[in-house]
Amino acid sequence: MKIKYLTILLLICGIQVQAQKWVNTKHVVPDEAFDTLALTPPMGWNSWNCFQENINEDNIKQVADAMVASGMQKAGYQYIVLDDFWMIDRDEDGNILADPKKFPHGMKALADYIHSKGLKFGLYLDAGVNTCGGQVGSRGYEFQDALQLARWGVDFIKVDWCHHLDMDEASAYLRMHDAIKNSGRPMMLNICVWGKANPWLWGPGIGQSWRVHRDLVNCFDCINEWDGCGVVQVVDVMAPLAKYAGPGHWNDADMLQVGNKGLSLIESQSHFSMWCMLASPLFAGNDIRNMTPEVKEILTNKEAIAINQDVLGKQATRFMTSNGREIWIKPLSNKELAVCFFNRNEQEWDVEFDWTTLTSLEKNHKYSLRDVWQHKDIGTTEELFKANIPAHGAILLKLHNK
Ligand code: GLA
Repeated sequence: MKIKYLTILLLICGIQVQAQKWVNTKHVVPDEAFDTLALTPPMGWNSWNCFQENINEDNIKQVADAMVASGMQKAGYQYIVLDDFWMIDRDEDGNILADPKKFPHGMKALADYIHSKGLKFGLYLDAGVNTCGGQVGSRGYEFQDALQLARWGVDFIKVDWCHHLDMDEASAYLRMHDAIKNSGRPMMLNICVWGKANPWLWGPGIGQSWRVHRDLVNCFDCINEWDGCGVVQVVDVMAPLAKYAGPGHWNDADMLQVGNKGLSLIESQSHFSMWCMLASPLFAGNDIRNMTPEVKEILTNKEAIAINQDVLGKQATRFMTSNGREIWIKPLSNKELAVCFFNRNEQEWDVEFDWTTLTSLEKNHKYSLRDVWQHKDIGTTEELFKANIPAHGAILLKLHNK
């Protein structure tokens, strides 16, 4: 009898030891360390929109080099994030493995290379049993995977939502958050839950940003068969969510399609203007090794980026909409404002705008108008604003104190 009890006791202890194996009680990240990870919207590059499964050590190192050489790093882009298809399997102890054919020197070496450029490193995981591309998911391995990524020196984790086996969204991502805390390394968590279960309600305190919709595909105005959609559709989803964004927690409108086939230059410029206005994370999604000067100019426009990165951390709201003609307002620090005239139409828009109708302007305060794309001061709020905006175009203005 005694032997039987002893066996049961040993079994229970064994299971507990196994469960404790990935729990780190010594170096848990304090909550305050997460609060300061994303005081302004995170900026970087993500491999998915241009490379999909074709990522490897060589092209990622070249992207890191291009990030520096193109001036993107100087403009504020920091993270190099490998999306789906970097992993291959797990070893016999359950450790997640990078594909050795694609990454012959392993993830630690790649992280070191990226860090040596003054950049930060991000990896993709999936909360379900498989990634969207059918690779190994992290369900049941959250703590072990977070520890492994921490050992490699990862700074940012995007966690996707494919093959989730009907888990509850908030608890699945809370588990991932706890796993990151436990890893001892304060890694940023991007909740890629496509707006399911309103992540803006439960995401703060769990992750630093959450995707609000399925993927932004490379078109201005479209919805595809799996609900991937264009710039204007994502803008509409973001519109009512302004109050949920702020320093440390952001609504993520998805990686940029600027510079990818499918958007004209005018559309790319409006897309970038709106992502800046919406205080969305800015992750370039084009092949930055080979971009045209025009595309580079859009992605590195420091005046537009300053609007996105403004420390007040407010997301723009839609002040006016009429037949596809929209005016968006983003309050900035120092009582300044950014204003975007966004033309969703196929026809051009002859704008005439009287600034006195803008109730959010400080009373009796005169502002100068700075055209962010022309890099020119173009008048003041005392004059009627007149401009012509092409189809799908946008004018982005900063109203600065005179
Ligand atoms: C989902 C995500 C995308 C990308 C792919 C990878 O569709 O929403 O951003 O990560 O999976 O398979």
